[in-house]
Amino acid sequence: MEHGSSFEFHEEESGRPAHPCIMVIFGACGDLTKRKLIPALYNLAKSDLLPRNFAIIGISLQDSNDEAFRAKATKDIHEFGTIEVDEYSWESFKRRLYYLSGNFQDPQLFKNLGDLLKKVEAEQGTQGNCIFYLATAPAFFPIVIQQLGKADLTDEEGTKWRRVVIEKPFGHDLASAVALNKEIGQVLDEHQIYRIDHYLGKETVQNILAFRFANGIFEPVWNRRYVDHVQITVAEELGVELRGDYYDKAGAMCDMVPNHILQLITLTAMEPPISFDASSVHDEQTKILRAIQPLNPERVLDHAVRGQYGEGVIDGRPVPAYNTEPNVKPHSTTETFVALSLSIDSWRWAGVPFYLRTGKRLKERVTEIVIRFRRPPFVLFRKTQVQGIPPNELVLNIQPDEGISLSFEAKVPGPVVRLGAVNMDFQYADYFGTTPSTGYETLLYDCMMGDPTLFQRADMVEASWTVVQPILDVWKAIPPRDFPNYAAGSWGPEAAFELLRREGREWRDPSRKPLTLKDTRLSHPVGHLTSVLK
Ligand code: BG6
Repeated sequence: MEHGSSFEFHEEESGRPAHPCIMVIFGACGDLTKRKLIPALYNLAKSDLLPRNFAIIGISLQDSNDEAFRAKATKDIHEFGTIEVDEYSWESFKRRLYYLSGNFQDPQLFKNLGDLLKKVEAEQGTQGNCIFYLATAPAFFPIVIQQLGKADLTDEEGTKWRRVVIEKPFGHDLASAVALNKEIGQVLDEHQIYRIDHYLGKETVQNILAFRFANGIFEPVWNRRYVDHVQITVAEELGVELRGDYYDKAGAMCDMVPNHILQLITLTAMEPPISFDASSVHDEQTKILRAIQPLNPERVLDHAVRGQYGEGVIDGRPVPAYNTEPNVKPHSTTETFVALSLSIDSWRWAGVPFYLRTGKRLKERVTEIVIRFRRPPFVLFRKTQVQGIPPNELVLNIQPDEGISLSFEAKVPGPVVRLGAVNMDFQYADYFGTTPSTGYETLLYDCMMGDPTLFQRADMVEASWTVVQPILDVWKAIPPRDFPNYAAGSWGPEAAFELLRREGREWRDPSRKPLTLKDTRLSHPVGHLTSVLK
């Protein structure tokens, strides 16, 4: 049973410290722990959202102890913290850090963990509640969960709860995701499993629902009658950095699509849930995933584009080709770019393509969702020099500039008729300021509160893999012959542009800034008002 909800804005609930608990982090010496988890927990402590009765137990193979772990965390928080660290609050945070070393395959580690949990619970008053956070390589997910089960550490009694957070990637294809669900389901009940997708921790992603369902003017036009198509761009400037080992096996499709991008699609396309409780939201998201038309092999060939970056220039700096990055095979056929055209077979969306693209080493870092509306009839402007009316566009900017903008045509002031595209812009920072965060704060807090809304349910993960599996199959059977096929610093391979062009559409250029009056004069032919009215 699911309960609680992140989208409820009850006054009495907001700003309440989470429930007492211990967070056990498997993989405590890894990147995620130092870059995201510890800074996020510290941010929660600073906002008084962390319970007073709280502790962290870090576990990894590395030989270490509480003192050394605390010293390392102190060094790391100064490097990776998102807010200024004040010595007083850090001291009190630091005292709640404990360390245990051991091999995840060794049952003795879990016996030791059981003993340490009892000791820490007595010291910190955490009431037997526990979150096990798997910040490990995916191969360890089932191993750690089995061991936790065998050591009776996942048992819940009375009000005492035990939860497990599983990082992505959840499986590497449909079969492995189904198998992993089955395996962990033998130890844990679904309500104990929190499959995390850090995109859902982003404020602007959560805001998609608030924007759609708290405004009377947008929902009525949010359908095939008014929307021509939807574009989702998740572009990164970064390459694979030092993650070649993982990435060369995963590729852009598995790394980004079944998780982050399909989540964005479900929130954009779902029907209004009957309430904001977790199961109602998840049910609607799952319906969208199931309504996405499966691509048969022929359709994969012309609805899915893959690419790999060659060398190029980003921000005036030369950058190397993917296949020369560390831990990447020199003849790698792994894609670093994906573009897809998907159709959602529903009464709301039939006939409205959802185009998505994501890639590394693209021109700019930007994540945006573009709702492009249908063009208005042109008849009124036939006798003028106006040659075309661009469609209205609503852009939900997820990152880095968080905001929403609506473009529409306006008459340029003056005695002659000129049309120009103008923007109505809303920037989060202007209204709400910005609080630097890691993006994990909400998710960790929700997990402590027992609210699974922003986490993925077992059937959602499987439905997501079902969407991408036919594409993975075709790509595996037909290796790419033209890699590398886009230059670092571009917007991806030519085939991605062709995907939209052949349907008479084009990608929005995220680098395009709103037109100025001067641009408008230059680029839009003019017509006299009188000739329009004749
Ligand atoms: C991760 C992927 O899940 O998301 C990375 O594994 C990617 O490859 C990252 O860079 C993008 O996240 P964000 O928050 O920077 O958009």
